[in-house]
Amino acid sequence: MKALKIILSIVVMGLIFGGCAYNFITEEEVIDPSDPDAPDVSFSTEIVPIFSSKCVACHYAGNQMPDLSPENAYSSINSSRYVNTSDPASSLIYTKPSPTGSHVKYSEAEAALVLTWITQGAQNN
Ligand code: HEC
Repeated sequence: MKALKIILSIVVMGLIFGGCAYNFITEEEVIDPSDPDAPDVSFSTEIVPIFSSKCVACHYAGNQMPDLSPENAYSSINSSRYVNTSDPASSLIYTKPSPTGSHVKYSEAEAALVLTWITQGAQNN
């Protein structure tokens, strides 16, 4: 009987303390590409990691163009075919994986980062 009480109180304690554990889902921060005061987006630390996680599986040297591997990504997309700094939103590197298209997609936050990077002059920074 004593053992039962102990087990019961452990279960009750478990319910009390374990019952309200929260899993915080941190929302993606979406930056505003039209904000002239937006902090500089870095190609190497912010754009390349997107390519590495979502694109390089198909876009690598000798496979589907453009080659988006970290060492070649900048030179591959630094052309008028992929990047248009006078009309950033029309850049193929932005439109092709846009969150509304049928190709592999950027998340909303990733798309905003890419657009901001192009708007800021598509630098190799
Ligand atoms: C599952 C394989 C796959 C993944 C992953 C993938 N792509 Fe593609 N991508 C393709 C294929 C296949 C094509 C060519 C067919 C087409 O245009 O839809 C293509 C075409 C493109 C083009 C147009 C190329 C041109 O010169 O016309 C761009 C730009 C592009 N992808 C960017 C990306 C980016 C950026 C990512 C990551 C967010 C990505 N792709 C992820 C398979 C992939």
